[in-house]
Amino acid sequence: MSVSLLNQNYNGITYNPLNPFTINQTLLWKGDLDSLTFDQNTIKAKLLNLNQPCYIVSVNGQVGVTQEGYVITTTDSNSDNIKLIAISNPVGLENLGDRNFCHHHGVNYAYMTGAMAGGIASEEMIITLGKAKILGSFGAGGLSPDRLETAIKRIQGELPQGPYAFNLIHSPNEPSIEQRAVELYLQYGVQTVEASAFLDLTANIVRYRVAGLTLNSANQIEIHNKVIAKVSRREVATKFLQPAPPRILKELVQQGFISEQQAQLAAYVPMADDITVEADSGGHTDNRPLVCLLPSMVALRDEIQAQYNYTNPVRIGVAGGIATPQSSLAGFMMGAAYVVTGSVNQACLESGSCQHTKKLLAQAEMADVMMAPAADMFEMGVKLQVLKRGTLFPMRSQKLYELYRTYNSIEEIPLPEREKLEKQIFRKPLSEIWELTVSYLSQRNPEKLAKAVNNPKLKMALIFRWYLGLSSRWSNSGEVGRETDYQIWCGPAMGSFNDWVRHTYLAEPQNRHVVDVANHIMLGTAYLYRIQNLKMQGLQLNNFYTQYYPTTSTLEVCG
Ligand SMILES: Cc1cc2nc3c(=O)[nH]c(=O)nc-3n(C[C@H](O)[C@H](O)[C@H](O)COP(=O)(O)O)c2cc1C
Repeated sequence: MSVSLLNQNYNGITYNPLNPFTINQTLLWKGDLDSLTFDQNTIKAKLLNLNQPCYIVSVNGQVGVTQEGYVITTTDSNSDNIKLIAISNPVGLENLGDRNFCHHHGVNYAYMTGAMAGGIASEEMIITLGKAKILGSFGAGGLSPDRLETAIKRIQGELPQGPYAFNLIHSPNEPSIEQRAVELYLQYGVQTVEASAFLDLTANIVRYRVAGLTLNSANQIEIHNKVIAKVSRREVATKFLQPAPPRILKELVQQGFISEQQAQLAAYVPMADDITVEADSGGHTDNRPLVCLLPSMVALRDEIQAQYNYTNPVRIGVAGGIATPQSSLAGFMMGAAYVVTGSVNQACLESGSCQHTKKLLAQAEMADVMMAPAADMFEMGVKLQVLKRGTLFPMRSQKLYELYRTYNSIEEIPLPEREKLEKQIFRKPLSEIWELTVSYLSQRNPEKLAKAVNNPKLKMALIFRWYLGLSSRWSNSGEVGRETDYQIWCGPAMGSFNDWVRHTYLAEPQNRHVVDVANHIMLGTAYLYRIQNLKMQGLQLNNFYTQYYPTTSTLEVCG
């Protein structure tokens, strides 16, 4: 079948006249002819005006677009009136994903920014986002309780009504840090926590969730402490999709952390309101592909919902690789209730990373990332995803891990190798690094220190962890002279974002505002949704229409 080009003044839009979706002879457009546009640029501007419908019409063989007028039906297939060939309803950003997410968290659209440890997801970032009614999660991981308390006070002071979230990161090596964070969240009435890195439920996360359960006068359970759990495995998702385990509830009642009534109410609510399914991402990641992981988790949620029949089913969102309108649209079309960005925000002005790091991030290509040993679970061989372009950290940390695997103590490492370490990586004698480690651990983790004194392999791990721990802080503080050692957590999303904005004002890191980036991703998502919808009606649109680029800042318009 040949497709005739009805469009004589070709503006890049064609349609198949035999396509039953496009030619519905009974649909006509009525309205002011002057509102019709036939020129490519004006058509695109109309398509981008998402709050209005778009009528695509055929006039004397030309395809035109208007946002005015109305549609009527006729039985006269030979009518001279203007034929409607496709229609696009207004595309509200609030309709992308699950509207309940917006309602539940008091936000404008179903988008959130994930936590970035060490305050990279800074107070400034969370406050700026919150003021624009976008949910951001403060990067509490790795911060001292005092520093976290300061952040809570500041964010609550600036955003008394929210929205904001705080990260609760599972810390198996230092359970007291996790416990202290929960105590602070309860003390200050932090109402939304992004729980991450959990392998199983702990008493801390259960306490946070259940201490926020009450029964109102209509005998309905109210959930005051919202949990957004970030997971990449089905077994962990299952725990958050189910009610809190009775064993932990019993312990918490005995300890006086929750009441008997709260323990009973806990049987009727899931552990999380939202589950962010995290595919291949910056930082800790299982490197799973989004397209495989998300459907599996949505199906798991449906199974567990059928079993428990919760009043409010758990929403499933998606993180990992979300950096462009296309990736965000893919997430929504696959059933995500909301999308979460991470890597792209680190390169923004509001992030707690230094200028040098932001510059490196803005130059990153998609393949400029790799897995490197993680400081927190170094001995177990756990890795996280970091930037490799412009820093030697991935190679150097990998070298440390190989030495750790090969030898049983620092003393066993051949002398020339040790000297190389002292010169190139540590820039100090290893004995001095051990002294620094001792003074740090005697404050923070004396039990670990005691174990290391009689365990040379552990001692070696702790010395190596000095480098792994500090290198991420150097990237935040902008430690001069240590640029080649910056540990910069980053996923392929960064390169994907850079590709998208390459020829736009957002190519420059000094122009990247976290709210503007969010607005453009979501506006682009809505726009591409409109384009896909028109394509499904049989329109063929050339690539002038099928791309969305950020041309101007949204900040003046959106505030
Ligand atoms: C610099 C950086 C630090 C991160 N730190 C944390 C963290 O402390 N806690 C956490 O839950 N997720 C952390 N993440 C993951 C993000 O919150 C987010 O889920 C992830 O980056 C999304 O994937 P993307 O990087 O592909 O956008 C971090 C990510 C980055 C890039």
